Formats: sequence, C-alpha cells, structure tokens
Amino acid sequence: MIDFTGSHILSVNQLDRDAIATIFSTANTMLPYAQRRKRTKVLDGAILGNMFFEASTRTRVSFGSAFNLLGGFVRETTGISSSALSKGESLFDTARVLSSYADVIAMRHPDSGSVAEFAQGSLVPVINGGDGSNEHPTQALLDLYTIEKELAANVQSIDNMHIAMVGDLKFGRTVHSLSKLLAQYKNITFSLISPKELAMPDGIISIIENAGHRVIITDVLEGSLNADILYLTRIQEERFPSPEEANKYRGQFRLNQQIYTQHCKSNTVIMHPLPRDSREEANELDVDMNLNPNLAIFRQVENGVLIRMALFALTLGVADQVQQHESEVNWFSHK
Ligand code: CP
Repeated sequence: MIDFTGSHILSVNQLDRDAIATIFSTANTMLPYAQRRKRTKVLDGAILGNMFFEASTRTRVSFGSAFNLLGGFVRETTGISSSALSKGESLFDTARVLSSYADVIAMRHPDSGSVAEFAQGSLVPVINGGDGSNEHPTQALLDLYTIEKELAANVQSIDNMHIAMVGDLKFGRTVHSLSKLLAQYKNITFSLISPKELAMPDGIISIIENAGHRVIITDVLEGSLNADILYLTRIQEERFPSPEEANKYRGQFRLNQQIYTQHCKSNTVIMHPLPRDSREEANELDVDMNLNPNLAIFRQVENGVLIRMALFALTLGVADQVQQHESEVNWFSHK
C-alpha cells in the first residue's frame, strides 16, 4: 500500500484496495467537521496552493473548503492566462516556485500528463485535480465512496453490481479513473454506452476485461437503464476542435423522470460527476429528476469534501490527530 505521508496523488494506479479502504475510513471521520458539528485546527498554519489552470467549480472550491475545514489556509490561481505559464514558464519551474509557498498543492491543467510533469518540480505533495482527458483521481474516489454508500443503502455491494457508464467515454476523465478503481472489485458488469466516436479507450477496456469483468459496449441506452448505477457524463465540449463538433453528440442519451419510471429499476442510482449541461438543447439529465431520491449527484458533491479532507490529512500525516485539535462550533449551522 502507498505510504501517503508526503506522497503525490497523481493517478488511481497508485491506490490498491487497502489504500482505498484507508482513504474511505479517514473520510468517514471527517463527517462532523464537514457538517460543522465540530471544528478542527489540525492544519493550523498550513497552506494549500490551489492551482487550477482549467475551469472548475466543484473540484477547486471543495479542495479549498476541505483544507479550510482542517484549519489551513488557501492560496489560489485560476487560468493559464493569469499565471506566468502564459509567459513561457515551464511546469517544472512553476511547480518549484509554487511549492516554496505551500505545504501541499492541488492542481488541474488541460493537458494529459501535465500534473505528473508539474509534480516532478514540486517540493511538496501534489494532488491531481484533473489532467486533460487522462485522469481525475479524487473524483473517482468520491464516486466510488458514493457508490459504496448508495448500494449499501439498497443492501448491495460493489462486487457483482451492474454499472452503466453513459456519454462521452473517450474524453471523460472521471470514467477512466473510476473504471480503473472498479476493476479492483469482483464480477462487475460494465455497460459502456456512447457514440462510437466517443467510446471508452481500448486501454481502459483491457484493464476491466483482464480483471475478469463483463463488458457490454453499445450506443443504445435503453437496454442498460436497469443497471444498479447509471453514471451519466457530459459531452466534453472543451476537448473538441469546435462547439459544432461537440453538438453532433448532444441529446443522444437523455434521462428524465418519464424514461426513469419506464425503464429503470425502482432503486437505480443516478450519478453524474457534474457539471451537467442544463441548457435546453443538451437533453442530458433533466432537472425533473431533481426530486427523485435515487438521484445521487448532490450527495457525490458532499462526499467530495470528505474525500479531499481525507487526502489532505493523509498526505500531510495528521489523520490520527484531527480529533486532538477539535473544538465546538459557535455559529448557527444549517447542516
Ligand atoms: N466534477 C468536476 O470535476 O467538476 P468541476 O469541473 O466543476 O471541478
């Protein structure tokens, strides 16, 4: 198992079942702090460099919130144009500089492999917040954590489940990382539903098949709607040469309440890494699903804070000290 203290978290390839279990059990201990029932100052004085060179809402803000919830401070930069990368500075030099200002760095960048390259120059642990269409390890961990909890509520387990992954499986980095994590479990049926041009990369399919799982590849949604987990994804417009190219694939795999009632099991769990494309023409995951109790998308968001808190506590070596630095919350909390 990975020795978390001081380690970069760049790929799910670093995480075996023991490491996943350690992250999840640490995440469970973070609940009172994430829910503002208690506060902790275990990272008092520590600084997170939150370096997002590509658009983000949840990953960037939840990394920052997770660090604040552990008592640490956050310094941010957003966008390549507002950093010296736009003046030709290398990722190595950027990392060497930024890591002298911080104790840990969370980083997102539009190019595959960029976060690993950045980490080579960093003096402190780097956590991958998404590198191009390659990987999104913290999203995959929060997805897996959510799947485990949602299935447990239905008295099911990850072993033997049926997951349908739907949409842009070529560019969707969340499904790449999640598939690799799931491959470590047993006897899963993967329905991979996408336009042929946006199919799951062969390398990921090989990992799943070589681990003994069943893979169904199709461009038809209807036959797989009765899966235990239906994991929808957005067409990753930013990876296409033009919006018009991406438009060709919009609306092919729509889910709304009527389709859910007609085709899904009564307890099929609906997941999406978000953002969902809520423009009318997107026809992706309709807002009429918001009242469906099996829609787990906002529970995924909440679980993301727990997972990111756990990764900070583990990489900075304080996971066993969080409670020691605990105090009461003295403000009104709605949580
Ligand atoms: N799921 C996810 O990565 O969302 P953001 O792009 O908003 O960070």
